[in-house]
Amino acid sequence: MIENKFDIIDATHKKTILIIDDEVFIRKSAKSFLEDYGFKVIEAQDGQEGFERCEKDKPDLILCDLRMPKMDGLEVLDAVTKSQPKIPIIIVSGAGNIKDTVNALRLGAWDYIIKPIPNMDVLYHAINKAFERADFIKEKHRHQANLEKANKELNFLVDTLNQTRDKLVQSEKMAALGELVAGIAHEINTPIGIGVTAASFLDVKTKEFEKKYKSGDLKKSELESHLKVLKDISDTILINMERAGELISSFKQIAVDQSNEKPRLFNLNNYIEGVLLSLKPKFIDTDHTIEISCSDDIEIKSFPGAFYQIMNNLILNSLFHGFKDMDKGRIDMLFNLKHNCLNFIYKDNGVGMTPDQCMKIFDPFYTTTRGQGGTGLGMSIVFNLITQTLKGSIECESSEKNGVKFEIKIPVLSCPDS
Ligand SMILES: Nc1ncnc2c1ncn2[C@@H]1O[C@H](COP(=O)(O)OP(=O)(O)OP(=O)(O)O)[C@@H](O)[C@H]1O
Ligand SMILES: [Mg+2]
Repeated sequence: MIENKFDIIDATHKKTILIIDDEVFIRKSAKSFLEDYGFKVIEAQDGQEGFERCEKDKPDLILCDLRMPKMDGLEVLDAVTKSQPKIPIIIVSGAGNIKDTVNALRLGAWDYIIKPIPNMDVLYHAINKAFERADFIKEKHRHQANLEKANKELNFLVDTLNQTRDKLVQSEKMAALGELVAGIAHEINTPIGIGVTAASFLDVKTKEFEKKYKSGDLKKSELESHLKVLKDISDTILINMERAGELISSFKQIAVDQSNEKPRLFNLNNYIEGVLLSLKPKFIDTDHTIEISCSDDIEIKSFPGAFYQIMNNLILNSLFHGFKDMDKGRIDMLFNLKHNCLNFIYKDNGVGMTPDQCMKIFDPFYTTTRGQGGTGLGMSIVFNLITQTLKGSIECESSEKNGVKFEIKIPVLSCPDS
């Protein structure tokens, strides 16, 4: 007897072999040989019965003769490969049936053995090989299924992550818009306040004038003086209302740009001024300064909403992190347009960062102020806006006590005046 390499009787399942052959001797001798090896063997004496047993008992392997009454081996093979494609089938055929054997292999038989079987070891070897291959295929399918499952889970996670990121970016935008509204309220307060004071002064003066006029005591010099007051007040009201109008339209543009994803042509210097105005309330009661170096004729076609978000985050970071323990912080922003590339250098003279902070600054959720209002998304949004929306680059340079420097390069879509 040959050594049993194959794990025929595993702990949970005794492998079943179905022998379909119309020759009783072949069935019986193969059965007793295989049972000695621990297989469970079931028999069928023709193709029809063989197929029915296969459907009913779901064997682990089939040994099938070719020439049989009712349903021949090729028909059995055809039917079984259609209904139970995973069951290995080994053809046992007479030496004269080579053509049919070749057909059987084409139809999906796993192997063949020539009758009369000269040595049962040949049979054992073929069965062993078929089971090894079946196990290999099963294992391959299992890996494939695991991979597909892992892939599905990964896709689901990526989708969830993208949705979460979009939501966070959206809430960051809303927070920036909230600051913008505060900036508008604060800035517009001044011209409107002056306008209201001037209008009420005008009201007082008009009432005095009316009284004089009605009493008939009005002198020419008084009329001239009143006309002068009228002119001054109306100038004051006009200037301040125009200023309020300008502020509203500049803020309106910034707010619209936040939701507009399309590039547009804009004057960089004017835009920066609008951004700084919206941030002015944050700098009240501080001695920090912001210096801008930007030629006032730079017109670029780009995404102004992204510019607003970038500057907003950089400036607020200098204020909250860089100037945390400082009275007189200074921010420098230098803009330079060269060969359709906008170079933007942003510097502050704040506390700076350690090399470790510097490395992680663009990582989402990296913050040194967790629990004190920091989410750690500001600089990762800046990074994404620069590299994805604006197709540019950003580099950070900093060391402790030496402030931060960001070098930003942004290709601009068109700049007709430069
Ligand atoms: N100008 C700066 N000076 C010093 N440290 C800075 C500066 N800018 C950023 N940092 C450091 O980088 C970290 C990440 O900044 P980021 O803007 O991404 O998050 P945050 O400001 O902490 O939170 P938020 O999401 O509210 O902006 C900060 O927590 C801070 O430690
Ligand atoms: Mg920040």
